[in-house]
Amino acid sequence: MTEKQRDSFRSNLGVILALVGSAIGLGNLWRFPYLVGTNGGAAFIIIYLLCIVFLCMPIMICEFVIGRRSQANTFGAFKKLAPGTAWKHTGTLAVITCVILLSFYVVVGGWTIDYFIKSVRMVFTSTTDFSAEFNKMVSSPTENVFFTVLFLLCTAGVIVAGVRNGIEKTNKYLMSALAVLIVFIMVYAMTLPGAKQGLNFLFKPDFSKVTFRTVLSALGQGFLSLSIGCGAIITYASYANRKDNLLKTTTVTTLSDTMFALIAGMAILPAVFSAGMNPSEGAGLAFISLPYIFEGMSFGRVLSIFFYFILFAAALSSSISLMETVVAFLKEEYRKSRFMAMLIMLGVTTVFAVFCALSFGVLSGFKILGFTFFDFFDYISSNICLATCALLVCLFAGWKIRKEDFYDEITSGGRYKIPKWLLGTLRVFIRYIAPVIVAIIIVNSLIGL
Ligand code: PHE
Repeated sequence: MTEKQRDSFRSNLGVILALVGSAIGLGNLWRFPYLVGTNGGAAFIIIYLLCIVFLCMPIMICEFVIGRRSQANTFGAFKKLAPGTAWKHTGTLAVITCVILLSFYVVVGGWTIDYFIKSVRMVFTSTTDFSAEFNKMVSSPTENVFFTVLFLLCTAGVIVAGVRNGIEKTNKYLMSALAVLIVFIMVYAMTLPGAKQGLNFLFKPDFSKVTFRTVLSALGQGFLSLSIGCGAIITYASYANRKDNLLKTTTVTTLSDTMFALIAGMAILPAVFSAGMNPSEGAGLAFISLPYIFEGMSFGRVLSIFFYFILFAAALSSSISLMETVVAFLKEEYRKSRFMAMLIMLGVTTVFAVFCALSFGVLSGFKILGFTFFDFFDYISSNICLATCALLVCLFAGWKIRKEDFYDEITSGGRYKIPKWLLGTLRVFIRYIAPVIVAIIIVNSLIGL
């Protein structure tokens, strides 16, 4: 396929919003607050920020370089930059990772639609047992599967509309709505009686709670949150213009994602404390604790509608990037039309996603290495596949791409002046430091299996 025929974003803002849309997701709103809650608050945040700056950002830059330089899908990118080598299978791994990730991600995406509709219909009352309500939803084969498939169809609808009319436009609207609503909820949360306690928990570090596991979770969360290690950034970067400032784009994406996670924490944790609940509730925080809290608050019903809409929008913009990565691969490597590629991806993901959805109910007794389907997909994608792909990306960019080419891409052919020390430090991180740390993480995750 020639470059002329390739899809592309209309503007640099389009690239940034798509990357931010991919990054901001359930990871920020659902996972980050409960990880902070279960890992001792501010100490986790500090470690998370260090991981983001020193490991995740350099790897994101590598993915951007690979995608934009090759102007190809995640498999084609490695094939083009290192012809005739096995490097292209980094792309194969990325594609598999996307399928696995998407399969469990859309199940949670389905819950967001379900809870959004229930909030609008005012199904919940002050006497609802939210824990029982949640268990009923996830274990019901019809309800859970229905909403999972509905969420998948929403994702597929955006993909079929194309890069500019589907992905770029949807992200523009969703991200704007998301930013306004989350700030609104955060400001409201600040007026609650538990606000001070919530903020103290978020910003006053208690290092006695930090263990090696905390560092592992922080880095894993960094990869997941920034969409690193599954080819999504490579794919979006391949739709970017050669003149776009790569360092600016990756910095804005990282900052937005991190700010959003912190704002989500500032919106959710004060509410948790004001209701006298425990922030270390875990995965049930967004679907069990929060609806309970909303019920007890003035304007709680409106906030609940806003909150589940935000959750839905964030999940959708992320799942779009996962599906597009595989669709671009099928389109370019197997010469399928966009529609056909979407149908194949939809078919495959539906099968896996239905298994994940049913693993809360009828298939709950079916275990792989002691995990249910859902937990297994979550564990191997977040803890092993993303990190393995990230490691390969790092090694590829650090050792396979020539130094001059790497610098040429980062500076957009000399268009942007970047200090030599910064480029040099970045390269040292990519060649030596990041691969060693990521390899340690992978070994530890494998031991955890
Ligand atoms: N970044 C998304 C989140 O935080 C998850 C994701 C990972 C999306 C990988 C795309 C690719 O929820």
